[in-house]
Amino acid sequence: MKQPIRVGILGLGRIGKMHAANILTMKEFEVVCGADPFLTEETEREMQELGIPKCTKDPEDVFADPTIDAVIICSITETHSDFIIRAAKAGKDIFCEKPIDHDVGRILDALRAVKQADVILQVGFMHRFDRHHSALQHKIADGTIGDIEVLKITSRDPAPPSMDYIRSSGGIYVDFMIHDFDMARFLTGSEVTEVFATGTSVCDPEIAACGDVGSGHAVLRFANGAIGILETSRRSSFGHDQRIEALGSKGCVMNDNEYENNVRFFTQDGFHGAKVPYHFPERYKDAYFVELRDFAQAVREHTAPPVTGFDGLQAVLIAEAAARSAKSGKLEAVETIEV
Ligand SMILES: NC(=O)c1ccc[n+]([C@@H]2O[C@H](COP(=O)([O-])OP(=O)(O)OC[C@H]3O[C@@H](n4cnc5c(N)ncnc54)[C@H](O)[C@@H]3O)[C@@H](O)[C@H]2O)c1
Repeated sequence: MKQPIRVGILGLGRIGKMHAANILTMKEFEVVCGADPFLTEETEREMQELGIPKCTKDPEDVFADPTIDAVIICSITETHSDFIIRAAKAGKDIFCEKPIDHDVGRILDALRAVKQADVILQVGFMHRFDRHHSALQHKIADGTIGDIEVLKITSRDPAPPSMDYIRSSGGIYVDFMIHDFDMARFLTGSEVTEVFATGTSVCDPEIAACGDVGSGHAVLRFANGAIGILETSRRSSFGHDQRIEALGSKGCVMNDNEYENNVRFFTQDGFHGAKVPYHFPERYKDAYFVELRDFAQAVREHTAPPVTGFDGLQAVLIAEAAARSAKSGKLEAVETIEV
C-alpha cells in the first residue's frame, strides 16, 4: 500500500476546517498539523476532536517540518503567494485555494518559485470536479454539440458572506465570479480575449458601502469566436443556484440545478419539487473530495495537476479585466501570460 501524503493545513477558517474534516477521512492523506496565527481555543479543540494531532499559531512550523510532503493553503487570499513561495522553497507540493492572489505580479513570483522548485501546484477550482459540470464538459469536448457558440453560466450564493470578508475579498470578480471565469475556459477549451462587465448592489446596499457590488455580470469573447454570458449574485433567496447552458453548431447541452431529491409533484397549487442545496459546501460536497483525490494522484505521480498555476493566473487576469471594465464601462482586453 502507498504511504499517505503527509500534509499541513494553513488557515483554519471556513474552508480550512472543511478541507481538514474531508482530508482526515481520505486514505491518500495524513494530516500532520494545522496552522493559523489567529487560532482560537475553540478551533484548536475542534481540530483535536476531528483528529488533527497538532495545531500551531506559526505557519513556519509547517514549512520547517521535513516530514510534511504537501501543504493545503486555506488562509486569507493575501497570504497565498507568500505561502506558495515558502512551500516551494521547502520542496513541498501545494494545493492552494482560489484565487492565487489579487496581485498578478505576486502570482507570477509564486509561479516562478513553483517552476524552479519543480513542485506540484493545484488551484482549488472545485466546480470543474462536480460530476454534472464534468459530464457537461465531456459533451462539449467530444463534439456532441459541435463547435461551441454561446456559453451561459448562472452562479448565485444564497446570502452574502460577512462584510469583513467582502471588504478584504478583492471584489466580486476576483473572489466569487473567478469560479465561473475558470469554468468558462474549462468548458470552451479556449482563452478569453476580451471582457465587458457591469454590476449592481441592489440585492444588498451594505455591499456597495464596502466598495463592491452584490451581483456581477460579464460578457466574454473567446479566442475561438464563442461568446460567454456570465451572471452571478451574492443573494439568491432559494439557495445555491448553479446552472450552465452551452449552444453549439449541432445542439445544446445544459445543467439544471442539483436538487435535494428528484421527486416532483402536482397539486391544485401547481408543480412542486425539492429545494436546491443551500450553499457551496453542500452543493460541491463531493467535488471537494474529487479535487483532493486528483491532487494526491498528481503528487504521487509527479504529473501536471488537473488545475494548474497557469489556470489560476488566467482566471485572475480575466477577473482583473472584468473589474477594469466595470469601472471604465468599456470592453477590456485579457492577456494570456505563460510562466
Ligand atoms: N473553493 C471554495 O469553495 C472556497 C470557498 C470559500 C473560500 N475560499 C477561499 O479560501 C480562502 C479562505 O477563505 P475562508 O472563507 O475560509 O475565510 P475565513 O476568513 O473563514 O478563514 C481564513 C483563515 O485564514 C487565517 N489566516 C489569516 N492570516 C493567516 C496567516 N498569515 N497564516 C495562516 N492563516 C491565516 C484566519 O485566521 C482565518 O482562520 C480564501 O482565499 C477564499 O477565497 C474558497
